[in-house]
Amino acid sequence: MSSLVCFPFKEEDVPTFVRNIQSAASHERVGAVICVGFSRGVTWHGILAAIPDIEAVYKKPVILAEKKRHASTGLRAGKGDGMNTALEYFLHHPEFTRLHFYDSDIVSFSRDWITKAEVCTDAGGYDVVRHYYPRSSTDAMITWFVTKVGFALLWPDSVLPCIEQPLGGELCLSRKAVQTLFADRRVRDQAGWGIDTLYTFVAAQAGLRLAEVYIQEGKIHSLYSGLSDLKTMLVECFSAIQLLRHDDVPVSKIQYSIEPPQPVPKRLKQKVGYDIEKTLKLLRMNWTPRQWELLQQHFDPVLVKGLQQASEWPSWMWADEAAWMAAYPVFLNNFQMGDTDWEEILFKVWVGRVLNYTLRDVVRGYDAAIDTLREMVNNTCNLATKREVEMYQNGK
Ligand code: LAC
Repeated sequence: MSSLVCFPFKEEDVPTFVRNIQSAASHERVGAVICVGFSRGVTWHGILAAIPDIEAVYKKPVILAEKKRHASTGLRAGKGDGMNTALEYFLHHPEFTRLHFYDSDIVSFSRDWITKAEVCTDAGGYDVVRHYYPRSSTDAMITWFVTKVGFALLWPDSVLPCIEQPLGGELCLSRKAVQTLFADRRVRDQAGWGIDTLYTFVAAQAGLRLAEVYIQEGKIHSLYSGLSDLKTMLVECFSAIQLLRHDDVPVSKIQYSIEPPQPVPKRLKQKVGYDIEKTLKLLRMNWTPRQWELLQQHFDPVLVKGLQQASEWPSWMWADEAAWMAAYPVFLNNFQMGDTDWEEILFKVWVGRVLNYTLRDVVRGYDAAIDTLREMVNNTCNLATKREVEMYQNGK
């Protein structure tokens, strides 16, 4: 039995990445490591130069591959093409039993991450084992407000809203899971940041056995400057949910287990995930007359008024939980990826929501902030379930 470990990468800190490859290669369960690069840049050449030494020490292959295009759509090439390239490689190599993915920039990565996934898979025969870890209260803002809320709104009775980190890039897949994912056109079409949503969704839809393991030290990696760094990711992650909105997920078919969390390290509790001052300025920028027309045409006047105020002076009280819950379905029905005005509106409403949460909830301390996020997902599930019951009673 041997596992293949994949690190997808673009441009990363080479010494960190090399250390991570060494940790993976040193693991007794790992038969080979594959690094899938976005392009042949500085990091590519750094890794190429380091490979002969790693192979000599650990006596196993380290493969360096460039991502292949799998998507048939016009989507921007990115992480999805990289991960799907590893799925295809794995399918062509039956000597490997499991495929692990880890982000290449994790400073806190160690062999233990691999051990945890291997032990959990051995014990429970899971098809997908996902790593989860404590995160700063202002990190994971797409995960909470877009992915978890979307899962709760659309599939409240499924396992999806319970998954701790549905966008996490650290996971271990059985051969059955890799086959299921790669056979799915929707997965192969996700060239960019939508890939994590699709892996999570398709695994749940197929009823694959799922477990989550806890990494207490957390994932120490680079955080963000202003939230504008996250705009492409936001658009692609939202659009992935939108694409799936008419699909069904079974309620009880899936087998799921989760390792309980431990106390959160102090340095994570105190970490600020993004630059608040830079972000405050974003609500005043990049307005066009058409954005106001779209807002007036589709959204609640109170939200539009809030955005008008925010376009003049930093304000965020308008972007509370109720406003986001009302706006989310409007985006689901009308948002158009590739339309810069729609992308900017989604971005601005999300920025307002993140600022509202930061300046009303995060200021109350770490535990209060995380409780607010969890309650938001629960409230969304309850609301969505209530709506389904009403629709059923009304015979719709
Ligand atoms: C998330 C991204 C921002 O999980 O890392 O939301």
